Amino acid sequence: MEKQFGIQMIENPRPDHGRGPAFLNPENTAAVRAVHTALPEYRETALVRLDALAEALGVRAVYVKDESTRFGLKAFKGLGGIYALFCVVCDKLGLDRGTTTYAMLQASPLREKVEKLVFVTATDGNHGKGVAWSAAKLGCKAHVYMPKGSSELRAQAIRDAGAAEVLITGWGYDDTVRYAAKMAKEQGWILVQDTSWPGYEEIPKTIIQGYTTMADEAAAQLAAAGERPTHVFLQAGVGAMAGGILGYLRSRYADAPLTASVVEPAEVACVFRSAEVGDGEPHVATGSGETIMAGLNCGEPCTVTWPILRDQADFYFSCPDWVSAHGMRLLHEAGVTSGESGAVTSGLVSMLAKPQLAEMKAALGLKADSVVLLFSTEGDTDPVAYQKIIHENSYPLPQE
Ligand SMILES: Cc1ncc(COP(=O)(O)O)c(C=O)c1O
Repeated sequence: MEKQFGIQMIENPRPDHGRGPAFLNPENTAAVRAVHTALPEYRETALVRLDALAEALGVRAVYVKDESTRFGLKAFKGLGGIYALFCVVCDKLGLDRGTTTYAMLQASPLREKVEKLVFVTATDGNHGKGVAWSAAKLGCKAHVYMPKGSSELRAQAIRDAGAAEVLITGWGYDDTVRYAAKMAKEQGWILVQDTSWPGYEEIPKTIIQGYTTMADEAAAQLAAAGERPTHVFLQAGVGAMAGGILGYLRSRYADAPLTASVVEPAEVACVFRSAEVGDGEPHVATGSGETIMAGLNCGEPCTVTWPILRDQADFYFSCPDWVSAHGMRLLHEAGVTSGESGAVTSGLVSMLAKPQLAEMKAALGLKADSVVLLFSTEGDTDPVAYQKIIHENSYPLPQE
């Protein structure tokens, strides 16, 4: 389909709407959620109705899950980090995940053993904060590496979240991940990475499972409102979040139609690029790698979730940065604080109301009875950039 306003869309020719993989089904999520809900910091995040956006788009409802308050970390990512650390510690110490609790790991006699473990990760911000916070809860040390150009504010936020050593490297995200993996090997640290590659998939799987709590909450909140989603838009960096949530939703709504779209920044769209090549394999993004969507600035798809996105998503979008800035402003108006990586789907859905995007809207099947589900995955994780976008209208809408 033709590009409009720099927004591109690809349709999956043969989407599979069957159940998602077993490790993401609602039964497994119940175990994940039990670990999360036992934490003293756990609170369900809000599901907010965006009535003005629904009216503009001509659909019954648009809902956005607001992750800006999750665990006080301003992003959904802590769900993955904390669950992964829980699983890895249980496995290392030979403990049963079903009967062990975080509180048990934090107390004597287990704490003395747990404290000896050292964790390492690479991050563009939010994941590292989740790992640092989770490690600090267990009395463990964490090393966090960030790609070049990372905001010092984000680095400081990670230091503040836990007793982590944070270093901004001279490389992009994907090479920073390789560096973290190398350090883990050399130093005997445990790599807790939110993406996977052949031979490193078990810990990422637990991170991805951790994310499903967010979808499980949203599905329950929708059910309480008497709704079920007909459309979901999921933003992707490596695609671990999008694939995890989609895998869960396909099982949860196995008996109902659900149109799923993956949304990425135009300059670093590895899932889009992989769909575009269309040979079934994951491919590296081809753009400049420059985007304000720091959490989505990842060039290589996660190998665990790529098959889910390849087979079970219906559409793939790539969007210029202003789409996300537009989404941030419209969510701000609706009372939701959403950062650059959280708001791109809201910005896209708003653009779909424009006549120039009517063909895309029709292909998506968005109609008067549609119910759209979005995830605003972060709050103002870079408060200075947030203020500029909201109050100084930086990255404005292009002229029509
Ligand atoms: C706020 C936010 N949203 C979405 C994502 C995308 O997650 P993934 O890299 O799993 O695609 C990230 C990743 O860091 C993020 O920080």
